Amino acid sequence: MRKSTFILSSCLLLTFNALSIETARAVAPNIAGGQKIFNEGKGDAAACQGCHGEKAFGNDAMGAPRLANIGQGYIVKQLGDFAADKRTPDGAGAAMNGFAKALSDQDRLDVAGYLDSLEYEEDLSDLKSLAADGTKVGKPDLGRLIVTQGIKGKVPACQDCHGFNGRASRFPAINQQKYVYLVNQLTAWRSGARANDPTVDKTGIMRGIAKKLSDEDIENISAFLSTSPRISPGGAKK
Ligand code: HEC
Ligand code: HEC
Repeated sequence: MRKSTFILSSCLLLTFNALSIETARAVAPNIAGGQKIFNEGKGDAAACQGCHGEKAFGNDAMGAPRLANIGQGYIVKQLGDFAADKRTPDGAGAAMNGFAKALSDQDRLDVAGYLDSLEYEEDLSDLKSLAADGTKVGKPDLGRLIVTQGIKGKVPACQDCHGFNGRASRFPAINQQKYVYLVNQLTAWRSGARANDPTVDKTGIMRGIAKKLSDEDIENISAFLSTSPRISPGGAKK
């Protein structure tokens, strides 16, 4: 190859790389489009608010999770996992696989972007009424110890990865997630029914942790997370 041709093709390659990076950056969520999907559904995907609530706070009676402010990247990953049947819940959540398949990649990004754009509003699980209806409810104070300190020699502190009181970091927000949903997920990680967590050294991160939790631990953790304030270590509500 002549030197000038070589330089020219290298330049083209560089330009091409720069262009593809630009295209990747240009993919941004369409918040208004995401809001429309959330409120009205799209094609075979039912309106999300029907189960997740008008403000996306989730719903204990249905085992539906809070989606508002739990993390855009995390929601995109879950919708991809539902669409690929890598996460196959039972109960009311079984419909999620079909809904996710009915949404395009852009639709999923749009709805995740909308959910992340919402102003944070507090919404706690009503543990008293859950207990009155016969749900086994744990003790928040005991759950706080596991979330902030872990169980010595056995389980890492949840906030090491999920942030203070579980209020989100690189990992999903589990603070003010709904009680019934939290119990369901931790039980599902433990039994392996949910197995779409990232693996480190061939062990699923959340499956490995959940295997070391008793029913009581799971109930206590969920009671704390679903009712605890979203404060910073300094006390600011942010
Ligand atoms: C028929 C009720 C119903 C409808 C409608 C519904 N969902 Fe769900 N969704 C659920 C339930 C229940 C779960 C919990 C599944 C489980 O236990 O794993 C869930 C789980 C999810 C999750 C996983 C959240 C997490 O914290 O991991 C996402 C994301 C989600 N839904 C998004 C949507 C979107 C987007 C729509 C609208 C296109 C929608 N859902 C419509 C019931 C519903
Ligand atoms: C080493 C890091 C790490 C630690 C420590 C950790 N988690 Fe996780 N957790 C993750 C990751 C990563 C995910 C996302 C899994 C996925 O992509 O599906 C996750 C997901 C979850 C979910 C699912 C959230 C949802 O909306 O469905 C729950 C619930 C959860 N973790 C609870 C806990 C609890 C309780 C503890 C402490 C006992 C804990 N985690 C400790 C990394 C961690």
